[in-house]
Amino acid sequence: MRVGVVGFGNMGSAFAEGLSGKIGKEKVLVFDTDPAKRDLAVEMGFPVASDLMFLVRESDLILLAVKPKDVKGVLEAIREDLEGRILGSVAAGVDTGTLKELSGTDRLVRLMPNINVKVRKGAIAITFGQGLSEKERTEVLDLFSACGNLYILPENLFDAFTALAGSGPAFVMVFIDALAMAGVREGLSYDRSLSIVLDTVLGTADLLKSLGGNPSEWVTRVTSPGGTTVEGIKVLEERGFRGTVMECVARTSEKARRLKA
Ligand SMILES: NC(=O)c1ccc[n+]([C@@H]2O[C@H](COP(=O)([O-])OP(=O)(O)OC[C@H]3O[C@@H](n4cnc5c(N)ncnc54)[C@H](OP(=O)(O)O)[C@@H]3O)[C@@H](O)[C@H]2O)c1
Repeated sequence: MRVGVVGFGNMGSAFAEGLSGKIGKEKVLVFDTDPAKRDLAVEMGFPVASDLMFLVRESDLILLAVKPKDVKGVLEAIREDLEGRILGSVAAGVDTGTLKELSGTDRLVRLMPNINVKVRKGAIAITFGQGLSEKERTEVLDLFSACGNLYILPENLFDAFTALAGSGPAFVMVFIDALAMAGVREGLSYDRSLSIVLDTVLGTADLLKSLGGNPSEWVTRVTSPGGTTVEGIKVLEERGFRGTVMECVARTSEKARRLKA
């Protein structure tokens, strides 16, 4: 399958890199209105289309990675040439109903990625339009699995996913920075502290993914009676850590819903 990526910014370039791991750079054609982004794409070894029409003609799947405000303009320009092709979009808040209306096709795939696609470890929500066969859906899933883990979700859960996985990296970064600063307070250099925290976070996520189980069971296992860990847990509970995190995600999700309204 040949993929045409429209918009070579944060997401477009991350997807182009991820997809090229599966199908090769020669099958990932790129277009961006910004000449600097086109130069970057050339530097990174991607073929760059001279214009949008050329990209569409040469691609089996067109992936829109422009800002939501630019989706309408791009689709108006290419809708006549989409026949037989698959249209993909990563634009936040632009649902399949809107994509169908603007493009005239329901051979659609809508993706909600997070920034971790940059290291091919994205958490990516995905939903399909009615016009794709089972075989095509399987092909699309196989293709995008090169960019991370895919979660087939109904669209009414996309706002929740946006809050949890789309904004999630920012929340996790805040926690990582707080832990690293805590290490500094205890006398470690920031760099060393950050490195220790990253190993701890990565190792903990790996442990949970590999061995399974509920996180609270693991908390109980690593918390010895009258020991050190429980002292820290008590502070988190006193300050309402879990409730704060839940409220943070709820407000983020609410904002995602409000932005679309
Ligand atoms: N960044 C994230 O973490 C994230 C997460 C989930 C979803 N998304 C979605 O991903 C999409 C892209 O976000 P981004 O952060 O990658 O944006 P970005 O870095 O601004 O990249 C978009 C690129 O598309 C270019 N562009 C604008 N109009 C175009 C057109 N008609 N044809 C071709 N290229 C065009 C822009 O050029 P100019 O700068 O010159 O306009 C820019 O280089 C958005 O819809 C966003 O909702 C992003």
